[in-house]
Amino acid sequence: MTAAALMRIPLIDMRSSVRAPIPPLVPYVQGALVDTRHRTLRDLRISVTDRCNFRCTYCMPKEVFGDDYAFLPHDEVLTFEEIVHIAKIFHGHGVEKIRLTGGEPLLRKDIELLVEKLARELPGVVLTLTTNGSALKAKAKLLRMAGLTRISVSLDSLDDTTFRAMNNVEFPVGKVLDAIDAAAAAGFAPIKINMVVKRGVNDKDIVEMARHFKNSGNIVRFIEFMDVGASNGWKMDDVVSSAEVIRRIDQVFPCEPVNPNYSGEVAKRWRYKDGSGEFGVISSVTEAFCDTCTRARLSTDGAVYTCLFAQKGYDLKAMLRGGKSDDEIHNAIASIWQHRVDRYSEIRTSETARQKKVEMSFIGG
Ligand code: GTP
Ligand code: 5AD
Ligand code: SF4
Ligand code: SF4
Repeated sequence: MTAAALMRIPLIDMRSSVRAPIPPLVPYVQGALVDTRHRTLRDLRISVTDRCNFRCTYCMPKEVFGDDYAFLPHDEVLTFEEIVHIAKIFHGHGVEKIRLTGGEPLLRKDIELLVEKLARELPGVVLTLTTNGSALKAKAKLLRMAGLTRISVSLDSLDDTTFRAMNNVEFPVGKVLDAIDAAAAAGFAPIKINMVVKRGVNDKDIVEMARHFKNSGNIVRFIEFMDVGASNGWKMDDVVSSAEVIRRIDQVFPCEPVNPNYSGEVAKRWRYKDGSGEFGVISSVTEAFCDTCTRARLSTDGAVYTCLFAQKGYDLKAMLRGGKSDDEIHNAIASIWQHRVDRYSEIRTSETARQKKVEMSFIGG
C-alpha cells in the first residue's frame, strides 16, 4: 500500500474523541520495525479491563476512583476476538512477548479463555500476566493449563496493616501469599513479586520482603514509585531509589549484580552472595531505561500507546470496527511505531509529573 493510501487513524486523548492524523508510513523491512531512536517493537502489554478491586494509593486512589467513577461501558471494551485479532497483527510486526494487565486482569470474566486463544493462535509467543493475586488462587491452574507462560504478582508489604493500607480495601496479605503458593503449585516458576516502594509507607518492609522470598525460587522486584497517570500525587520525595534499596538489602544480605537475561530487561538483576536466589530493581525514575524500551501498550478500549506516560493513543478499535483490513491496521501500527519518539523517564521533571497522562489502570501496568 502506498503512503498516500494510508488512512488517517484517529488519535484519542484519554477517552475523549480528539483526533489527529498520523504521519505517513516509511518503507521498512518486514519483521524489523524500529522507531526514531532505533528501538525495535518486541512487546505488547494489553489491558484487559480498567477495573480493579484494589484501590492502591499509587495507582487508583479512592478519592479519584470512587463509587461513582465511570469505568468503560461494556461495548467500549475490546472483545477477546478483537484482542487476539490485534495481537496477531502485532505478532506479524515481531512482537514476541505479550503481557496481560489491567486494572486487575483476573476480574475479566473467563480470562483463561483469552489466554487459551492467544496461546493457540500465537505459538511461540511468551504469554505473561500481572495480577494483584486476589483471585489467583482459584485461577492459577486454569491459567497454567490455558498456556500462560509466566506470572507476576503485586505485593507491597508482608505486614498486614501496611498491605491493607496500601491496597486501601482491607485486603489481607495472607490471601495473596496463599495465591502465590497456588501459582507455584500450578507450575509457575519463578514467580515475580512486584513491590512498589513508597518512602514512609512501606520502605521499612524492604529487607523483610527480601528475606521472605530468598530461597523460595521466586524473584522480588523493588519498583520505584512512578508518576503514572494524573491522580497519584507523586512527589520525588516519596521515591526510594533502587540504589538505596540495594544498599539496605546488602547490609543484611550481601549481594552482587548479575548480567541481564536479555537486552532491554526492565529489572536490573542482583543475587545474594550466599546463593539463596536473586531479586530485581526497576528504576524508572533514577535510572531511566527508555533507550531500550521495546514496549507498545493496548488499552482496554483498543487504543495503542507507545509509552506508559503517554497523553494520547491511536484508536485501533475504530479501525477494526470500521471494517479496515488487516493490511491497513498492520500499516497503521508500523506508522505509529516508526514515528515513536517517547523517552518520558529521561525527561521527567516536576512539571511533566503534573501533566494529564493516561491512567495506568487503563493503559496497562
Ligand atoms: P519480565 O522481565 O517478563 O518479568 O517483564 P517486566 O520486567 O517487564 O516485568 P513487569 O511487566 O512485571 O513490569 C514490572 C513493572 O515495571 C511494571 O509494573 C511497571 O511498574 C514497570 N515497567 C514495566 N515496563 C515499563 C516501561 O516501559 N516503563 C516504565 N517506566 N516502567 C515500566
Ligand atoms: N509506580 C510504580 N509502579 C506502579 N504500578 C502501578 N502503579 C505504579 C506506580 N505509581 C505497577 C505495580 C503493579 C503493577 C500492576 O503496576 O508494579 O504491580
Ligand atoms: Fe489494582 Fe494493580 Fe492498580 Fe493496585 S496497582 S489498584 S492492584 S491495578
Ligand atoms: Fe518506555 Fe515510556 Fe517507560 Fe521510557 S517511560 S521506558 S519510553 S514506557
